[in-house]
Amino acid sequence: MAILVTGGTGYIGSHTIVELLNEGYDVVIVDNLSNSKIEVLHKIKQITKKDFKFYEVDILCREALEEIFKKNSIEAVIHFASLKSVGESVAKPLMYYNNNIVGTLVLCEVMNRYNVKKMVFSSSATVYKGSDSPLTEDSELGATNPYGNTKLMIEQILRDIYMSNNSWGITLLRYFNPVGAHESGLIGEDSVDTPNNLMPYITQVAIGKRKQLNIFGDDYNTYDGTGIRDYVHVVDIAKGHLKALDEILNKNQCEVYNLGTGKGYSVLDIIYQFTESTGIDIPYTVCNRRPGDVAICYADSTSAYEKLGWKSERNLDDMCRDSWKWQVLNPFGY
Ligand code: NAD
Ligand code: WQD
Repeated sequence: MAILVTGGTGYIGSHTIVELLNEGYDVVIVDNLSNSKIEVLHKIKQITKKDFKFYEVDILCREALEEIFKKNSIEAVIHFASLKSVGESVAKPLMYYNNNIVGTLVLCEVMNRYNVKKMVFSSSATVYKGSDSPLTEDSELGATNPYGNTKLMIEQILRDIYMSNNSWGITLLRYFNPVGAHESGLIGEDSVDTPNNLMPYITQVAIGKRKQLNIFGDDYNTYDGTGIRDYVHVVDIAKGHLKALDEILNKNQCEVYNLGTGKGYSVLDIIYQFTESTGIDIPYTVCNRRPGDVAICYADSTSAYEKLGWKSERNLDDMCRDSWKWQVLNPFGY
């Protein structure tokens, strides 16, 4: 029996596959390579010395997806495949609703048809309405952009599927701010375009690709005026999927867990820690706030700890060092 990983050549998917292979799972990957490169497959093999199947398939393509379910004995699905840029989703909402929501509907229909009813889904802290951190799974929900709406809607769809037939086992994982890379430096976040997120922007400044970091506002109501987030190492996030998988393979349920460290760091904290960890200064300038940003967002991950036995193990130093190692070893990405 194999675990089907949609979006498996992407950033979080590739790290999760390494953990799955290391734990002895059989893995089947589906990805249309819309935001990732085929080269990652060799890197995963290099790290794990294990083999797996890869299908270059769009999850919207029902026939191709059915073929995969026919040819492989799938036990559960980890569903990463999604478009994820907040700004792009505002400009191209139809593309986001179609890819993320229709893609998930097709996937669930095919799963149902082949009697595969176990899924771990990639949700996001972006589904929370406010910034009354720490955010628990019961904090008020409400997204402010099409990308976030797709995550909220898919969460609801998956809950409804479970309500209609509780032989399903579904876990919604709400990641906070995944950063870092595998300790080997062989896989990491491959930002082809200008990065939207803080850490890949910092590593590109550090390597000289960009002149300076723009800090999006220093007039927030925080201890240094810059935004506070819950940065969590991608390998810890990856390991969270194995815990979630373990739970649903043994239990029918629809549960939701925050995956974060429970600690918030400001943009300036990250800049100082990056310099501390790597010895490289990050020139920066303060500019206007980015529309849609909140002041503070960090997790209460007690539930993941108590029910899944998961907690983050890597600290900010690990996150900065591993992000930098990936950048140095792969200055042009994969
Ligand atoms: P990513 O873009 O690196 O990976 C997503 C993968 O899905 C890509 O390889 C892409 O090619 C693939 N994909 C997209 N649409 C597809 C389709 N229709 N058919 C097949 N493959 C498709 O993103 P990531 O950072 O690894 O994120 C993984 C998941 O986690 C996403 O669902 C994302 O929304 C969610 N998430 C990410 C973050 C983050 O900060 N990285 C935070 C919270 C949640
Ligand atoms: C972090 C902090 C910025 C870049 C995003 C998505 C969210 C989730 C995770 C998918 C903020 C500041 C950033 C820069 C800066 N993704 N910043 N200069 O906004 O918390 O979350 O990624 O689900 O949905 O919205 O992460 O890394 O973009 O920003 O000052 O060039 O860094 O203002 O305070 P964010 P981020």
